[in-house]
Amino acid sequence: MAATAVERPLGDDKVRTLKISGNVGFDSLPEQLVSKATQNGYTFNVLCIGETGMGKSTLMDTLFNTSFESTAAPHSLPSVKLKSHTYELQESNVRLKLTICDTVGYGDQINKEDSFTAIVDYIDRQFDDFLQEELKVKRSLSTYHDSRIHACLYFICPTGHGLKSIDLVCMKKLDSKVNIIPIIAKADTISKAELSKFKAKIIQEVKANGIQIYQFPTDDDTMVKVNSEMNTQIPFAVVGSTDFVRVGNKMVRARQYPWGTVQVENEAHCDFTKLREMLIRTNMEDMREVTHSRHYELYRKKVLEQMGFMDVGEDNQPISFQQTFEQKRVEHREALQRKEDEMRQTFVLRVKEKETELKEVEKQLYTKYDQLKRDHAEEKKRYEDRKKVLDEEKAEFQKRRTQISQQHLSSHHTLTLGKKQKK
Ligand code: GTP
Ligand code: MG
Repeated sequence: MAATAVERPLGDDKVRTLKISGNVGFDSLPEQLVSKATQNGYTFNVLCIGETGMGKSTLMDTLFNTSFESTAAPHSLPSVKLKSHTYELQESNVRLKLTICDTVGYGDQINKEDSFTAIVDYIDRQFDDFLQEELKVKRSLSTYHDSRIHACLYFICPTGHGLKSIDLVCMKKLDSKVNIIPIIAKADTISKAELSKFKAKIIQEVKANGIQIYQFPTDDDTMVKVNSEMNTQIPFAVVGSTDFVRVGNKMVRARQYPWGTVQVENEAHCDFTKLREMLIRTNMEDMREVTHSRHYELYRKKVLEQMGFMDVGEDNQPISFQQTFEQKRVEHREALQRKEDEMRQTFVLRVKEKETELKEVEKQLYTKYDQLKRDHAEEKKRYEDRKKVLDEEKAEFQKRRTQISQQHLSSHHTLTLGKKQKK
């Protein structure tokens, strides 16, 4: 009977459902998957965005019930930076490779316009690293350390006055790249009545600005109730602490004040347990899934399209990787040829221009030379005329001098003769 199952011709989209008469054993598939996943361990990467001193490190210590030993950031950085650390955690027999990425200096600059740039670049870089691995000829995705951000905790300052523009701009820039979970930080500093108004204001502003925040999935029957309920409680108002106090016979994380104690895990005090439940215990896998199938897919599609790859050609027919590559190669060669022709034409044009320019200069030089020659001839003629005049004047002068000396001589002779006669 089972043999008929392979009769389906290729391309037929009707799948026949058959009954099996005895035990085959593929019902162990889920266990096989669980065992394999447990063996490999899990990767989970969290990005914490929040102003300096907003309680990011404390909340991470609280969430994973450990001490990540972080150092406080200064308020004087000229730009936002991202700092990431990877840790190996183990609970029962499950290993978790956790990467916590923190913003450093977020909101400290006078000009906050570009605060999101470093964050967007970081997220894209992780997508790009994964894409590069995927595109490698010899890829090793099973051992590859996936650093793509699965959850982004956005720490909202507990002002009670709604979101700041830096929050809106940043969340808008990130909503198609990462699962954003907004949380109200240091929620012990805001009163109960103010908190519900604050939450409503935040949600209204998020909707008004068209920001897509992460919604806990409601497509799984077992989780639909709790996840739908939790979706209405976003943003969670959380408190973190590294201090412990004794409650009954248990030590619990809490913050102590002169007027009382805030217990982090007490649901009447804050939403911390809801956040932990949703982020770690219920929806971690969904966030990993969404990151891969939605955010990364979008990035991949954009990058491949930019590189010129497509699934269908202009005639709406499927187009393969090789065809696109071949087409790109032809286009590239044509473009190169065009560029070469253009350059040759430009060269010829430039040579012609230079030639005309040189001819013009030559012409000008000739004109100048002629002019100089003319000027020189005129000058020469002027000097010759002048010389002639001067020569004439000289001759006249000589003539006159001779006349005068002759006159002088004859008068002297007459005078001498007269004197002799008188004697
Ligand atoms: P940077 O890494 O320096 O940007 O700071 P951060 O965001 O990691 O803050 P961090 O966890 O170092 O906490 C800064 C200060 O806020 C510390 O004094 C914490 O004790 C305090 N703090 C942390 N969480 C809370 C909270 O939930 N409520 C209150 N009131 N204070 C908190
Ligand atoms: Mg810190």
